[in-house]
Amino acid sequence: MIRLEDIKQDGWPHIIRAQQFSRKWIETVLFPLTDIMEKLSVSQKKKLLRYMEVISLFVAESTRTRASFEIAAHRLGAEIIFGSEAANKFSSLAKGESLEDMIMTLAEYGTNAFILRSANEGDAEKAASVTHIPVINAGDGKGQHPTQALLDIRTINKYFPNINGITVAFIGDIVGSRTIHSLAYILGRYTNVKIYFVAPEYMEIKPEILDYLKRHEVQVYREKDIRNIASLVDVFYVTRTQGNLGTPSWDRTDEKQGFTIINKQVMDLAKPDAIVMHPLPCCGEIVRSEVDDDPRAVYLKTRGDRMSQVRCGLFVRQTLLLTVMAPETCVKLLNS
Ligand code: NCD
Repeated sequence: MIRLEDIKQDGWPHIIRAQQFSRKWIETVLFPLTDIMEKLSVSQKKKLLRYMEVISLFVAESTRTRASFEIAAHRLGAEIIFGSEAANKFSSLAKGESLEDMIMTLAEYGTNAFILRSANEGDAEKAASVTHIPVINAGDGKGQHPTQALLDIRTINKYFPNINGITVAFIGDIVGSRTIHSLAYILGRYTNVKIYFVAPEYMEIKPEILDYLKRHEVQVYREKDIRNIASLVDVFYVTRTQGNLGTPSWDRTDEKQGFTIINKQVMDLAKPDAIVMHPLPCCGEIVRSEVDDDPRAVYLKTRGDRMSQVRCGLFVRQTLLLTVMAPETCVKLLNS
């Protein structure tokens, strides 16, 4: 029996950082509710958040996160009552208003949830500090992207039902990628996990994340050339260079910097049951003509019952909206 308290993760109703989610929550709430979201028809789902409202504030660029959250809300019957895809330009933030004032103003009009993407680390926390309405961090600068990490762990779970003992290679912009930061925290919840950070030396993982991983007994290694470890890896997690957040571009095939491209050569070295993930957008770090058609590439295309990471995101975001906006409904769904 699931109880209301079980639905409410640490820090509920806000979703700000990946550390809020325990392994128990992931296994007893996230995965089973997402199974239900995958099975229910749109007409069955339309009732779940009927008469509820969402404000979707995107102060920084996004395609997948915004689209999947807004589609998820619609499919559950909620309405996006106000949305901005360029709030940095077209809201009063551009006039110098503080984020807190903007959130307090919109909260006065009433809504059942805020979805917030911003360019600055810590913004989601600031927003949550001024309202009791759920704030969902949809990516805050170089900080975190907790909902991406939850959809990533869901994707991993589909291919590796027992996540304990997996080996993950994070490849690319380790320092700038908020999706890596959040997923590293989630992986720390599992046992016998090995993580390889594959990047040039100056792209070190943040010290606080490294400390956390050590405390959680994750075995962490650094590598400059993905080809050296490709045969050991279960999950290749590739990221672009976060140029829009200030990471300088680098030559991914340079002798000095190492080799961080995923191409046929790497796929030939990889295990037959490995998977290649990418939060997207992909900007050249995967040689698409050589990798896209490989069944191990799960980032974009669903093939039969091999669900893509992108598609997993839609269902996970439905689950997350439900847990913060209608926890009693979650209890009913899980216990029925
Ligand atoms: C990521 C993001 O915005 O952090 N994309 C996403 O949300 N799916 C990754 C990126 O921008 O590189």
